Amino acid sequence: MAKHRIAWLPGDGVGVETMEATRLVLDALNFDAEYIHGDIGWEFWIKEGNALPDRTLDLLQKTDCALFGAITSKPKDEAAAELDPSLQNKGLVYFSPIVRLRQELNLHTNMRPCKAYPGNPLNYKDDIDIIVFRENTEGMYGGVEFHPIPKTIFDALCEHPKMNKFQRNGLDNLALSTRIMSRQGCASIVTQAFEFAKQFKRRSVTVVDKPNVLRETGGLMIRTARDIAAKYDTPLWETNIDAQCMWLVKNPSDYDVIVAENMFGDILSDLCAQLVGGLGFACAGNIGDNYAVFEPTHGSAPKYAGMYKVNPIATVLSAKMMLGWLGETEKAKVIEEAVAAVIAEDSVRTYDMGGSAKTLEMANAIVAKL
Ligand code: IPM
Ligand code: MG
Repeated sequence: MAKHRIAWLPGDGVGVETMEATRLVLDALNFDAEYIHGDIGWEFWIKEGNALPDRTLDLLQKTDCALFGAITSKPKDEAAAELDPSLQNKGLVYFSPIVRLRQELNLHTNMRPCKAYPGNPLNYKDDIDIIVFRENTEGMYGGVEFHPIPKTIFDALCEHPKMNKFQRNGLDNLALSTRIMSRQGCASIVTQAFEFAKQFKRRSVTVVDKPNVLRETGGLMIRTARDIAAKYDTPLWETNIDAQCMWLVKNPSDYDVIVAENMFGDILSDLCAQLVGGLGFACAGNIGDNYAVFEPTHGSAPKYAGMYKVNPIATVLSAKMMLGWLGETEKAKVIEEAVAAVIAEDSVRTYDMGGSAKTLEMANAIVAKL
């Protein structure tokens, strides 16, 4: 029996290709694992009305963790229009399967390292090494939304004086997305950030929100961050999301560990990814108490699907994070060093890096460096 059982979830679009590439790397490492394929993605939405079938959720129960490729995600109405005719008009609603995985498995912590590997022609600056800790289950992406707004909820909201200006619109003309955050959720993500900073001797932890406007949710995040920070030696910096975006472009090397709620973390992690080469280099770990799903931050890039064109490094580095989480730190290090060596060398370059190497050529170049 293999030492590790890994759910293998390629998804669709270029996810399938970057996962194939990543498997070349894992297989070359003699990593003692059994990979169990799970159905997930757009195909299953169209055919079954569920992009994350129950059988896949069952499979996850029987594995240690999962590696996930990418999935096409579309707004509600567009998604419904693509359903198989037999499933149309049944009230099926598309939910992003990765968001569902995060919520149903309580993968509360999303770690997104953004490191400028020396020699990457796409580095915005060379000494960037940021990691974003994104709260992964609450906030604006928590999924508590309404359109139209049910009357009971509308009436309750109208007790708030600021609802005056919306009352004349009528229920059908209003949409409501909530930003619900818990003290526990804020404390957990901030604690993870500080623990990481302590373990890896990082310089600072920056908590990003907008408490001057989002007084209650943003306020809770900042106050909680201060309470947690008091227990650690690492300094806490507090910034607003808008200013933080500007400063990341101005002085990216000043930042180290960044922590934010779900939506701001989503936005910041794309910005940070672009500072170090873009989504082709951005890896992520969705971490819960006993389970984790690792994935490249990029989407399924439908326009490149089937072309074996995209850079697999984001998925390879996600596998590296997975190995670290599984306690295979030596093997994780070997992968990262091989990736860094290929980037440093300037001979194998995918299209995003200005070259013409294909997805599997990049994987093979990494394998050659292991
Ligand atoms: C990400 C993605 C997802 C998110 C989408 C695909 C739902 O942008 O992982 O950052 O917003 O979380
Ligand atoms: Mg995102």
